[in-house]
Amino acid sequence: MSISIGIHDLSFATSEFVLPHTALADYNGTEIGKYHVGIGQESMSVPAADEDIVTMAATAAAPILARHGKDRIRTVVFATESSIDQAKSAGIYVHSLIGLPSATRVVELKQACYGATAALQFAIGLVQRDPAQQVLVIASDVSKYELDSPGEATQGASAVAMLVSVDPALVRIEDPSGLFTADVMDFWRPNYLSTALVDGQESIGAYLQAVEGTWKDYSEQGGRALEEFAAFCYHQPFTKMAYKAHRHLLNYCGYDTDKDVIAGALGQTTAYNTVIGNSYTASVYLGLAALLDQADDLTGRPLAFLSYGSGSVAEFFAGTVVAGYQDHLRTEANLEAISRRKTVDYAGYRELHEWTFPTDGGDHATPEQTTGPFRLAGISGHKRIYQTR
Ligand code: HMG
Repeated sequence: MSISIGIHDLSFATSEFVLPHTALADYNGTEIGKYHVGIGQESMSVPAADEDIVTMAATAAAPILARHGKDRIRTVVFATESSIDQAKSAGIYVHSLIGLPSATRVVELKQACYGATAALQFAIGLVQRDPAQQVLVIASDVSKYELDSPGEATQGASAVAMLVSVDPALVRIEDPSGLFTADVMDFWRPNYLSTALVDGQESIGAYLQAVEGTWKDYSEQGGRALEEFAAFCYHQPFTKMAYKAHRHLLNYCGYDTDKDVIAGALGQTTAYNTVIGNSYTASVYLGLAALLDQADDLTGRPLAFLSYGSGSVAEFFAGTVVAGYQDHLRTEANLEAISRRKTVDYAGYRELHEWTFPTDGGDHATPEQTTGPFRLAGISGHKRIYQTR
């Protein structure tokens, strides 16, 4: 008999600051309709100098431990493409900040924005093998492009933490998955760069190819029919991409691509991403959080997930919403994480964008900016120093 495994809890965190797209548009002379309508973005999260993928991840994960304890967590899988070290997993800093026991395995995973879905699927495998254990999956990223580049308007930052277990309280993840990999150079970041390189139009085309490829495989593996899904959670580098992706899928399947039909299928999945921006690995799960928080009752309804990571790997899979899920949501905290951000002006954003530690191995403190529970206090002898506030 197969056991029910999936997302038992989900919590997210974002940054201290936010830049409205109106400020970016005022600076670079862009007609605001291009941002608000053309790419579907209102604002983007901007990390403080003393925030990074670790502080956001710990902030997202701490409430999960507060609710469920730590005794059953034996694995932490940290998905990111904004890695802070080539050897040590960012998850180890989080493990220490949130006080997980030493009898834990911790690992970092990377495949662009797709990494968190790999982490989720690997977590399901671990729980299948040992149903007593819970796995903490963390997706945390800072999306950063060159100043004054077309990608600049699609930046953002957030972390999503998910507890994966048997008898999940939120979403039961199903088999099969539809898989797709293609060796494309649509978006990448060589080790010596702090900002990503991207071929914008190529990346949109590669994403759409992946939608097609995953759906084809999903169908061949015996997945659900398109009409069965109550909503579609897409990876959202900018929210308009979810509309493009769903239109492409409907076209591919020979369906009507009416605007209202597409909007209905996406539902509330774009509500958080439109004000947070691209948060790479976390993006598709922010879509899920927004949907569960804001949609009418979804009990028993199947949801579709399309996770895309440039380079590229993608996966299409389904999950069913569990009865009673509303009692386990974190809607108030999620809205608070978004509304507590302080608006920065364009000059302030630019300063934060350019902030970087000297690489001389000396002692360097970070300005005290974040009001969140964890901060990156500085660097000393090339070692990052984190603090609980
Ligand atoms: P761009 O050249 O600045 O914009 O790049 P554009 O000229 O393509 O315009 C964008 C849209 O705005 C167009 O709509 C315009 O018509 C519209 P579309 O034709 O696409 O439907 N527009 C307007 N609409 C209303 N009023 C107006 C107006 N003016 C224009 N006044 C681009 C846009 C997204 C390419 C750029 O921002 C970029 O390069 N972003 C980064 C790459 C990206 O996000 N790619 C997405 C797919 S790849 C992916 O998802 C993976 C990723 O998350 C990374 C990972 O996996 O790790 C990125």
